[in-house]
Amino acid sequence: RGDRAVTADLAGRHVVVSAGGTREPLDPVRYLGNRSSGKQGYALAATAVARGARVTLVAANTELADPAGADVVRVGTAGQLREAVLKAAADADAVVMAAAVADFRPARYATGKIKKKDGEEPAPLELVRNPDVLAELAATRPAPGQVVVGFAAETDDVLANGRAKLARKGCDLLVVNEVGERKAFGSERNEAVVLDAEGGETPVPYGPKEALADVVWDLVARRLPQR
Ligand code: CTP
Ligand code: CA
Repeated sequence: RGDRAVTADLAGRHVVVSAGGTREPLDPVRYLGNRSSGKQGYALAATAVARGARVTLVAANTELADPAGADVVRVGTAGQLREAVLKAAADADAVVMAAAVADFRPARYATGKIKKKDGEEPAPLELVRNPDVLAELAATRPAPGQVVVGFAAETDDVLANGRAKLARKGCDLLVVNEVGERKAFGSERNEAVVLDAEGGETPVPYGPKEALADVVWDLVARRLPQR
């Protein structure tokens, strides 16, 4: 965190962070998942603790050590993540959705392992939509004045796509990362931009996930109702 002075500007606040990636089971041994490590969400949780907040971290399938001082709730599926986030959000000042939430889940769960049969092609996998937790939070604002933050990774037209996504979701801030072949393996700069609902943009230079987390909390703190 460099020599950035740590102030307790989130003291007395409750913040909720989701991290990791959901897994949608197909049968007892298989799932649809994604590659999210959860590191950005854990960095958000750790920096919020350092700034004095009470932190609920909803962690989906992560293999990271619990951040000291945060309440960790472990979940597996998008449905479980939704329940845990909405429950914690009831009295939260801010919710940051850093988790990669599966857009779809298998339409049916096979209670026994799916077996192949000689000479038969596999049946197509039928998927159904998962609820959009971020859009639901933004639309319902479980607590008054709650600040709602999303994350998005985009490959093309990063800012235009990010701007459209922020409007579609109705959140206050959207952290947009460019991903793609040139940026995939971390060897090049991978800047983020935080978009706000008023049309503002805050660029964040390439750096540790804690630095991006601190920028997010700076922008959140500015939007919190005074008390
Ligand atoms: N998100 C969510 N619930 C979902 C899907 C996404 O809460 N079912 C949240 C993510 O946690 C993230 C934000 O929405 O904070 C943006 O996710 P992203 O996948 O970029 O948005 P989508 O609307 O799913 O768009 P896309 O079709 O590009 O995947
Ligand atoms: Ca998605």
